[in-house]
Amino acid sequence: MPPKPKQKILMVAPEAAPFIKVGGLADVVGALSKAVAERGHDVRIVIPWYAGMRHVSEARPLEDPLLIVKLGGHEAYARVWECPLPGSDAKCYFLEHNRYFDTPTVYCGPSGDETDNGYRFTFLSRAAMDLCHHLEWYPDIVHCHDWATGLVPIYLNTNERETPLGRAASVMTIHNLQHQGWFHRRIVDYAGLPATVFRQDGLESMGEVNMLKGGLYHATKITTVSPTYAREIQQPEGGCGLHHLLRYRAGDLIGVINGIDMEEWNPATDPLIPANFKAGQMKGKAECKAALQRAYGLNVDPSQPVYTVVSRLFDQKGLDLLAAIGDRLMEQMHIQVAVLGTGDAGLEQAFQDLAQRHPGRFAAHLAFDNELAHLSVAGADFLVMPSRFEPCGLSQMYAMAYGTLPIVRSTGGLADSVEQYIEGEGIGTGFRFDHPTADALYYTMGWSCATYYDRPKELAKLQKNAMQADFTWDQSAGIYEDIYGWALDARRAAFSE
Ligand code: GLC
Repeated sequence: MPPKPKQKILMVAPEAAPFIKVGGLADVVGALSKAVAERGHDVRIVIPWYAGMRHVSEARPLEDPLLIVKLGGHEAYARVWECPLPGSDAKCYFLEHNRYFDTPTVYCGPSGDETDNGYRFTFLSRAAMDLCHHLEWYPDIVHCHDWATGLVPIYLNTNERETPLGRAASVMTIHNLQHQGWFHRRIVDYAGLPATVFRQDGLESMGEVNMLKGGLYHATKITTVSPTYAREIQQPEGGCGLHHLLRYRAGDLIGVINGIDMEEWNPATDPLIPANFKAGQMKGKAECKAALQRAYGLNVDPSQPVYTVVSRLFDQKGLDLLAAIGDRLMEQMHIQVAVLGTGDAGLEQAFQDLAQRHPGRFAAHLAFDNELAHLSVAGADFLVMPSRFEPCGLSQMYAMAYGTLPIVRSTGGLADSVEQYIEGEGIGTGFRFDHPTADALYYTMGWSCATYYDRPKELAKLQKNAMQADFTWDQSAGIYEDIYGWALDARRAAFSE
């Protein structure tokens, strides 16, 4: 095959690891950019410069840092910083604009809440366009991530269509369809978009602006983060009100499973765990298990299986099911549970109460703690992930890389990445169940517990299978490369009509 032509790719995103991270989207933007740049493409990322990023010491202002952002009827300014993406040739631009981004985190503005988000992310989208003109760097592909960048494909098809930027194809990735970015229609004027985009086959939804919907209508190609989720969102149950649109665009919608960053999540080299290990040399894992038990205040006992949770504690993740069966598990099974995460106050309380009722056996660390996340994933025997829906999910892949077997609901990326255990045959990489009920989770945990005690050889085989599965970005980056090519062909064809 002839070598693929080198492309210029602009990633527009609300967050990107390692600079600022709320969820998996940030990991994907960082790791995918790196993987695509490794294939020889010119990849640049643009994100806001949040107050929470002031520690990023490698950032330097552009030579000509003052960017004029052309909003509807007025101009605003941003100061642009440039920063290499660590370990990569890709680079990142940060947009400094204090009125919107002088805030420690991503989705709350300086006012401390979400009220300005329509303006804040319109500003990001518009500024990404103006930055290309400012740099006179015109991408072949603009790759947009989630609702916060939904206006970008619309700008490319309207205001920018006759400019050199208008040749760019857009790819819109859905990381989570539940968040769509609903705002008052005055956003259209603020954005400086033509009023005609505010219509049912466009930005409008029940009289308001729906940013994701607009982006999905206008994008050249659409991707989401697993093949199963790509199918689920075309059904009424999974479509969050957009299944008609997604079916209409089904020919342009492709599910690509995320990879994981194997430099950060590799048990053989991980500097954040007390002992390293790999398939075939598992002694270090036992040491990690003891360290995990100590860190959580669990009884240090190598014979009991440890089940861990590493997750944001939100409805999506289905962890209320685990809370509901906590006492039953402790009474009926000889196991330990270690929960790491923050989120919903009621759920935090429920886990805390369980820990109090079952000292030494049930523990909850209610925080975001990267080091403990590595230790939990490395030291546990099982990871519990009963998500109600899961576009891709990353924790289950981290877990498998460390020989920690995931117990997951068969949905989205969990169904695509965890292979069901077939008893007696040593096949599989984890344990799956179908119905999002407490009983289904209880019995599946019971099944895994019985396997742990009664079929240790098979369990070791599953561990090995899990550790040998390929979750690197390489394959998925290759698929994105194809998608960029298809998007560009489609865009060029549209221009020559
Ligand atoms: C969102 C999804 C999660 C996915 C991540 C990265 O956080 O909820 O399933 O892994 O985005 O794409």
